[in-house]
Amino acid sequence: QVPDDHVIVLFGATGDLARRKLLPGLFHLANAGLLPRKYRIIGSAPTKSALRDEEFRQRAKDAVAEFGMAKPVGEAWRAFESALSFGTADPEQPGPLIAAVKAAEKAIGGSPRRLFHLAVPPAAFGSVVGMLGATRLAEGGSVIIEKPFGSDLASARDLNGTVHAVFDESRIFRIDHFLGKESVDNILALRFANGLLEPIWNRDHISHVQIDVPEAIGIEGRAGFFEGTGTFRDMIVTHLFQVLGFVAMEPPTTLAAKPLRDERSKVFEAMKPIDVAHVVRGQYDGYRSEPGVDPHSQTETFVALRTEVDNWRWAGVPFFLRSGKSLAQRRQVVSLHFKETPLRMFPVDTRASVDHRANTLVIDFDDPGWIATRFLAKEPGPTMRLAEAEMTFRYADSFQKAHGLEGYERLILDAMLGNQALFTRSDGIERLWEISEPLLKAPPEVELHARGSWGPESINDLIAPHHWYLPDGH
Ligand code: BG6
Repeated sequence: QVPDDHVIVLFGATGDLARRKLLPGLFHLANAGLLPRKYRIIGSAPTKSALRDEEFRQRAKDAVAEFGMAKPVGEAWRAFESALSFGTADPEQPGPLIAAVKAAEKAIGGSPRRLFHLAVPPAAFGSVVGMLGATRLAEGGSVIIEKPFGSDLASARDLNGTVHAVFDESRIFRIDHFLGKESVDNILALRFANGLLEPIWNRDHISHVQIDVPEAIGIEGRAGFFEGTGTFRDMIVTHLFQVLGFVAMEPPTTLAAKPLRDERSKVFEAMKPIDVAHVVRGQYDGYRSEPGVDPHSQTETFVALRTEVDNWRWAGVPFFLRSGKSLAQRRQVVSLHFKETPLRMFPVDTRASVDHRANTLVIDFDDPGWIATRFLAKEPGPTMRLAEAEMTFRYADSFQKAHGLEGYERLILDAMLGNQALFTRSDGIERLWEISEPLLKAPPEVELHARGSWGPESINDLIAPHHWYLPDGH
């Protein structure tokens, strides 16, 4: 389905997110034939970062060349490029943006829809939305707002109030790009399109769940954003909790936006407030010497925590979450660890290579992603010796087209189509901030850890008697 004609306004068009993801993503959508028949994309930024149209086009080209799946060449690029223009907007001086929107609408003709994408720092969301309301640019338009939505419960409520004063909830698309990842959506298919797993997807059979998003990169020059945000707000209350919503939710009645979002909200409702005794905040060694970082910074670059979903399906099953910068490897993995069998009738094999806990379903959701079950099998031979075995699903083995759309691409397309199913909703977001209050009010001290490690040593106590699990056997 191709969306109706659109004028897309990209706030934060000179920023990192626009360069790495949004401009390359929009071009990829154009190449895949998924942008509207007629569209214009207006880059916007404050007056101090003004660009001429040609400069913006050049930047977009460089960004697509560096980060895009589709390269900026040929007729496809020329068509895309001709749809790009730039219009500055300060809350007090919105004139150039208004003129750019009018010009774009005239060029398209008819009544194209307006979509405003706010790829700006969280502190600027309110003033940009206010400007869209005051100038009436917002009329009939939709808005995509980046995460984190607020920085605590009070600010999220305020922000929801500000946005609702200008846009109806049906026009608000709070984006969390992890929900647009192909293999996160596939969790729904895996669970609800098959009869195989759902009967054992509960506290009777699962001992614990791990959601693990270690990153090898550091803060990549984003000190300005990161110092005031930290890993909990940047990753946990957003991406990891949203993935948890997919893993833990009950089957929705249909895949429509309301039932899907209702079921995710119910998971968040059932989550217990975070107990700070079950949180490790870490910081990688050397973070305080990064340009722009306070030499005494207490901002965490690492978080591991235990949380629980206190409902009929999950009561008593701990969920262990971890994410951090400058860690040993990049991974994006959910692992479900099944309970041991009631009777151990097999001889215990003491070889270090045999992990008797190998009873796991692993979902790697880093594009393109894979799913594996790890289990014990009889090693061929005359005695009953067990060894670890694996069954793996890889997209490329089953599908000719192993790559779909990237998270952002899928979600921008859905926003143009008006489908909110994979976006977060105000009640869900506010509930997640509410359960986070104990941690935000009394955060434990940050513990330093070596770069390239898996975080502070104390995370082992956090998860005991279980163990942190990585698919490479770590
Ligand atoms: C972003 C965070 O939302 O997600 C970054 O702000 C993080 O800190 C990134 O690195 C990870 O996303 P991806 O696309 O690499 O999975």
